[in-house]
Amino acid sequence: MPRFITELKRTHSCGELTRTDVGNEVVLFGWVNNRRDHGGAVFIDLRDRAGVTQVVFEHGVRPDVHDLAGQLRLEYCVGIRGKVVSRGENANPRLATGEIEVHATDLEIFNRCEPTPFLVEDKIDTSEEKRLQYRYLDLRRAPLQKTLMTRAKVNHLTRNYFTDSNFLELETPFMGKYTPGGARNFLVPSRLNAGKFYALAESPQLYKQLYMVAGFDRYFQIVRCFRDEDLRLDRQPEFTQIDVEMSFVEQNDVFEVIEGLIVKLWKEVLGVEIPRPFLRMPFDESMAKYGNDKPDLRFDLPHVVLTDVVAQHGGGGVPLLKQAIEAKGIVKGLRVPASASFSRTEIDKLEEFVKGMGAKGLARAKVAEGGEWTQSPFAKTITAELRQAINQAMGAKPGDLLLFQFGKEAVVHTVMANLRVHLAKRMGLIPEYGSGGQWRFLWVVDPPLFEYDEESKTWAAAHHAFTRPRDQDLQYLETDPGRVYCWRYDLVLNGFEIGGGSIRLHDPVVQARVFKAMGISDEEARSKFGFLLDALKMGAPPHGGIALGMDRLVMLLTGAESLRDVVAWPKTQKGTDLMTGAPGDVDAKQLRDLHVKSTVEPGK
Ligand code: AMO
Repeated sequence: MPRFITELKRTHSCGELTRTDVGNEVVLFGWVNNRRDHGGAVFIDLRDRAGVTQVVFEHGVRPDVHDLAGQLRLEYCVGIRGKVVSRGENANPRLATGEIEVHATDLEIFNRCEPTPFLVEDKIDTSEEKRLQYRYLDLRRAPLQKTLMTRAKVNHLTRNYFTDSNFLELETPFMGKYTPGGARNFLVPSRLNAGKFYALAESPQLYKQLYMVAGFDRYFQIVRCFRDEDLRLDRQPEFTQIDVEMSFVEQNDVFEVIEGLIVKLWKEVLGVEIPRPFLRMPFDESMAKYGNDKPDLRFDLPHVVLTDVVAQHGGGGVPLLKQAIEAKGIVKGLRVPASASFSRTEIDKLEEFVKGMGAKGLARAKVAEGGEWTQSPFAKTITAELRQAINQAMGAKPGDLLLFQFGKEAVVHTVMANLRVHLAKRMGLIPEYGSGGQWRFLWVVDPPLFEYDEESKTWAAAHHAFTRPRDQDLQYLETDPGRVYCWRYDLVLNGFEIGGGSIRLHDPVVQARVFKAMGISDEEARSKFGFLLDALKMGAPPHGGIALGMDRLVMLLTGAESLRDVVAWPKTQKGTDLMTGAPGDVDAKQLRDLHVKSTVEPGK
């Protein structure tokens, strides 16, 4: 028999043979996806990443090959040579290669396969733990293969796009200096510098700015970032950014470049035309209407801010509302149209849902014919005037359900934001996950530069300390920092933040004022960011940039449920790798070499 691989080279993938290949001799390599033994003939579906091809081993053609084929089992890795034959009437229209089959004349079993812990099939109900433990088998399944191929395509298109637009792909260190603020860092102990640590880069932020100072003008990188955060469905501790920085630009220039990339990706990957320019919305409007800065605009259901209305009526006879206003809280309402017709039990379930997010309850009212409220804890005491004012503000119609939250601003926004999405799913306005074929891109722009931290009673940079404030707001830096807005932007798609960036603060004088407003002393600023502050004083060009979350982009492009489905080797919620067992123990000598002592006793 001829030797496969050395003598017989692969001629085709398992996904490409059609009627036009009939009569040709081909060599295919792959895995046994399916096997039927009909006595005189053994049938297998041979699978590789391109698809499956039916292969037949007939006793009458080559008895020895037929006998060997009798040994084949699922997931054996094999090579075959044979002739392409038409399946005629028996064609399988559901398969790309369904018109043909290969009648094998040669077979080599490269490797056998023990019974697998789960079957390699498109749809399986195996637990995620098991799938992650045997991830290489999980990855053999067609849906994951497709996803990773999409990911490779996104990589490729992105590289071409930026390179064609005169950007340079430049690298930045992963091991850097720990700088406080932002996400929690993973630390790497230094063997050569006892007691010192590197921080794994949470993003290339400072280095990409320094590339601008160095004159590289247009930079991009598809880069791994590391953040020791609490994990969620859309977060991984190591994830990939499409990272971009440009000199001599304003916000519109950054948007232009990024919109161009997104339009290209959607066109080439999905064949979908995304209209430009993307919608823009001020941060404050997004918070008021949707409770967060990443609204899903595939459906409406806006929040209505009722704080002023309630204040004007002094709480309108409702003690809880009065207290909320007096405590400088906010009041928000959300109108669910009559057509949604939620039952009492369903509304009680909504209340459980919001309580799970820290709400005290879910105040509500059903609107009756004359605008009266029923089924409402407020109904008895609320003044007719406030009720009418709220009805009017919310555009309430008979049969509508009004839902309310009041109290601390941050809690009200979060609860109402999640409630809005939850309602939309319950009302069938959006699917549980996936885009439903709708792509609502949005730039959220003009956020405040600072956030007030209630606990420490100080102003802190809402993003990072090198975001450029709006010129017209500079006058408030010392007197009223909350009024200073800045050139920061987030790109949002269907309720996910897929990117964020800013125009940077390249002016050392304004930079010093910003640190001061944040209560950071000159010495502190120097010890944290000295190298960047020095660089800004040495002819730093005006610059700005953005980073897109590559994993999130692929998740949305493929309709995956979680980031774990688009990362080949992901970590679990607890940050573990179930396949390798990372993070793992190290021996005492390694720790000694690194000058590190664990506070955890072995085995605990
Ligand atoms: P930012 O922190 O907003 O900006 O990150 C940019 C984008 O990266 C994605 N992302 C994540 N994806 C998966 N898992 C995570 N843990 C995770 N964290 C963030 C998001 C996010 O929008 N240096 C700045 C960018 C800049 O200013 O140029 C930065 O890192 O999609």
